[in-house]
Amino acid sequence: MGHTCVFGLGWGDEGKGKVVDLLCPAFDYVVRFNGGANAGHTVCVGEERFALHLLPAGILHESATAVIGPGVVVDPIKLIEELDGLIERGIDPGSRLKISERAHLVLSYHKIEDQLSEQAASSGKKIGTTARGIGPCYADKMRRSSAVRFVDLVHDASLLDRIEQIVEQKRKMFIALYGEDGELDVEAVVADVVRAKNRLVSNICDTTSLLHRAVEDGQSILFEGANGVLLDIDHGTYPFVTSSSTGPHGIGVGAGVSPHVVTTRIGAAKAYSTRVGAGPFMSELNDATGDRIRIAGHEFGTTTGRPRRCGWFDAVACRYAAKLAGLTDIALLHLDTLSGFEEVGVCTGYRIGDRTIHTMPADISSCEQVEPIIEFLPGWSEDLQEIRAFDDLPQNARDYVARVESLVGSPVSLIGVGPKRSQTIVRGDLKNVVGDISMSAPA
Ligand code: IMP
Repeated sequence: MGHTCVFGLGWGDEGKGKVVDLLCPAFDYVVRFNGGANAGHTVCVGEERFALHLLPAGILHESATAVIGPGVVVDPIKLIEELDGLIERGIDPGSRLKISERAHLVLSYHKIEDQLSEQAASSGKKIGTTARGIGPCYADKMRRSSAVRFVDLVHDASLLDRIEQIVEQKRKMFIALYGEDGELDVEAVVADVVRAKNRLVSNICDTTSLLHRAVEDGQSILFEGANGVLLDIDHGTYPFVTSSSTGPHGIGVGAGVSPHVVTTRIGAAKAYSTRVGAGPFMSELNDATGDRIRIAGHEFGTTTGRPRRCGWFDAVACRYAAKLAGLTDIALLHLDTLSGFEEVGVCTGYRIGDRTIHTMPADISSCEQVEPIIEFLPGWSEDLQEIRAFDDLPQNARDYVARVESLVGSPVSLIGVGPKRSQTIVRGDLKNVVGDISMSAPA
């Protein structure tokens, strides 16, 4: 298998962390290329659960070098906390973590701005962000004059003076726009920057050249997309999206590696759909069935703890995401969650008034008018959690997987039947990459 990307086909939380974690032992590098601490990967190793936000899930494997690429917006204090959390549990990434000198820093004023702007937005306009400062940091990156990059921690002798100026500009802007400064504390921001420099300086490097050399030397790279294609800044359900390029198309931008080298593009999707935050959700179930999926699937956010909105698998949205991504394989997670439903729904089209469409409308009002066309397939009652071979799944579960494949247009190569690493069914060529799941162990 060549260089590979694992990414989300939905609105995030698809279970990418588990897929990355399974594949990691076969790769020399694991690379984050977009987003920041808005992402949340839960990886279960044995009885232990690891919730990672900024660190690539590959950090749990000592064979892999973990890279945070130029396109990631990094909250250095959250990153230090995450590193300390791993060290407490016996995993010290040390120099295996490489942070791009081109990556931008999320500082406390970005998080304040995220909160103030959400609070000030009228209802219906609130994006429901994770409040991790993602949008404001990417906005500063585009604005350029008020951006801070990791390279500045190394080379900019007047960085602390510049930080003070930026904070004062932000204070003026917050007061003008929101009537308050959000308790902005310049000394605290400076202290965070000093702490980031002291702790992370040895991890900062030119990750772009590092990855170019890796490609030339025939080493293997696993790119780990954060969030999900339907949250993509250009192609998602705008404006209810995140601020980065979330699919394999983001690799060029966010890692500095040409996406054409990435030959395997594995999109993670749940066997049903979920969304956190506001925005259109065409196959949402605002009823007891949606509640039942939420409880059965433990659908509460890793990053914010918010209950996730739940609905049937949306094959229209998923096929759209698949086409954007050049999908080669589907990783279908949480199939076990659907056990016990008499019938299982799949959204196969959108009805708007008297029209039926099979594409994603660009405008929110059309998305909100969509009436989903749901095809029901017979369900299964068996518990799937101990099943390890596709042929051992109940016939109705196999038929469901086959229907997903035909609607999305790609093979389902990996199926999740429980949260643990071992609770996975691997099919086709992926079998050669994943190896013996029960033997794979954390660093
Ligand atoms: P932001 O990325 O914090 O600006 O949030 C923008 C939207 O994307 C909100 O609806 C968030 O809930 C959603 N979002 C961002 N990252 C993730 C993720 O990793 N999983 C699920 N939703 C996310």
